[in-house]
Order: sequence, then structure tokens, then C-alpha cells
Amino acid sequence: MGKGKLIVIDGLDGSGKQTQTKLLLEALSHTGQPVRQISFPTYGKSSALIELYLSGAFGGRAGDVNPYAASTFFTVDRVASYLGDWRADYEAGTLIVADRYTTSNAIHQAAKLSTEQKRAFFAWLDDFEYEKVKLPRPDAVFFLDLPPALGQELMARRYSGDERKKDVHERDLAYLEQCYETAQLAARELGWQRIECSGKGEIKSVQEIHLELVRRVKEICDIL
Ligand SMILES: Nc1ncnc2c1ncn2[C@@H]1O[C@H](COP(=O)(O)OP(=O)(O)OP(=O)(O)O)[C@@H](O)[C@H]1O
Ligand SMILES: [Mg+2]
Repeated sequence: MGKGKLIVIDGLDGSGKQTQTKLLLEALSHTGQPVRQISFPTYGKSSALIELYLSGAFGGRAGDVNPYAASTFFTVDRVASYLGDWRADYEAGTLIVADRYTTSNAIHQAAKLSTEQKRAFFAWLDDFEYEKVKLPRPDAVFFLDLPPALGQELMARRYSGDERKKDVHERDLAYLEQCYETAQLAARELGWQRIECSGKGEIKSVQEIHLELVRRVKEICDIL
């Protein structure tokens, strides 16, 4: 059986993943090939442990939960979604675009570790998610590079300034800075494509980022 392609869009909270995933999917759908979007976590489906973790049930700070333990919550959600939802499409040749994937563990969980520990974590994650659990390996990962302070501005608009609506990741700016540094390391070491989403301290327009993403997808994925 042939298999499809899997393109991943990842980045920090509020970096525009959903916005760009949707636009990319639209652009890809014009090629006439079967495409579909998936996104993680699957909130309300197989994400019960993630929801407990993000709501602070296991501790009010991200660092209260061991990164390997927290990672498994997210992996389980992806496996359930893969087996029960998109595996058939993927195996039938559909092009899948994912808003977050295993790569989010590399950003948000490795952030809890020192640099050397991060490298060991990346190796563990790769083996666990792709080799042992056998989730499909992405054909390409696009990292929306937006500094956390700018991402937070977008989030603030979404929550209308109500801090209480933020989850344990979102409300901790020091942790988000760690995530940003970790994402830069992951992008370099894991071969992610970095998409620059800001310039001169300002976020670029949705359209400008989209055009750059499309250009890079064309260059790398041999689709479009
Ligand atoms: N380039 C941009 N310029 C201005 N606003 C943007 C841009 N990209 C996205 N937004 C807006 O910022 C908010 C966050 O975007 P989006 O939901 O796409 O991010 P996300 O990465 O999926 O967030 P989360 O991490 O919470 O899932 C949305 O209200 C969106 O409309
Ligand atoms: Mg989103």
C-alpha cells in the first residue's frame, strides 16, 4: 500500500500554527490531491491526561511534571488519533497537514531540561514516537519562529486580557522563553525548516508568512 505525506506545522503557543495550517491546506487543496488537516491535542477526544496536566491538576507549573511523563500523555493522544482517525487516509495516500505533532514534545517538554539533557531527550523521543510506538515520521517540519513576547501579544488578544484562561504552559513566561530556546536547538539539530514570522520586532502579516511557507513547502516537499 502506498503511503501519504505528513507535513507538520509547529511553533510556540500563539505563533500562528492554526492560521497557517488552514491557509496551507487551502493552497494544497487546489492541487487536486487528497489533503486533510489534523491537530493536536485532540481536546475532548483522547486528551484527558493532557487536559488534567494543562489545567494544573498535577501541579501549577509546567516543571511540576517530569518531561518524559508529560510527553507520554501527548503521545498517547496522537496514537489514539492515528489509529482511530487518520491512519486509513494516510495509508491511502492522503497528504496530511498537522497543527502540532511529536515536535511539540521536543519544544515544550525538552524545555524543562539542560542542554545536554535536551539532546538525550530528542533521541529518546525519536525512538519512542517513531520507532517503538510507530507514529509516522513527518516528511517535513516547519517551525513558525515567533519570539514568545510577540506570541503572547496575540494570545492576550484572544483571551481579552483574562490571564485565568491561560493553561500552565501559557501563563509562565520564563518557561515560554525556555521553550523558544529549546525550539531553536531542535530546529537546528532535528532538521526543521524555520519560518521567520517577525522582523524588526514586529510580527509579519498572515499573508507574508503564508507565502513564505508555500515557497518552502514547494522547495522541500515536491508537491504544489
Ligand atoms: N501573522 C499574524 N498577524 C496577526 N495576527 C495573527 C497572525 N497569525 C495569527 N494571528 C492571530 O493570532 C491568534 C493566534 O493564532 P493561531 O490560533 O493561529 O495560533 P496557534 O499557534 O494555533 O495558537 P495556540 O498555540 O494557542 O494553538 C489568532 O487570533 C490569529 O488570528
Ligand atoms: Mg492553535
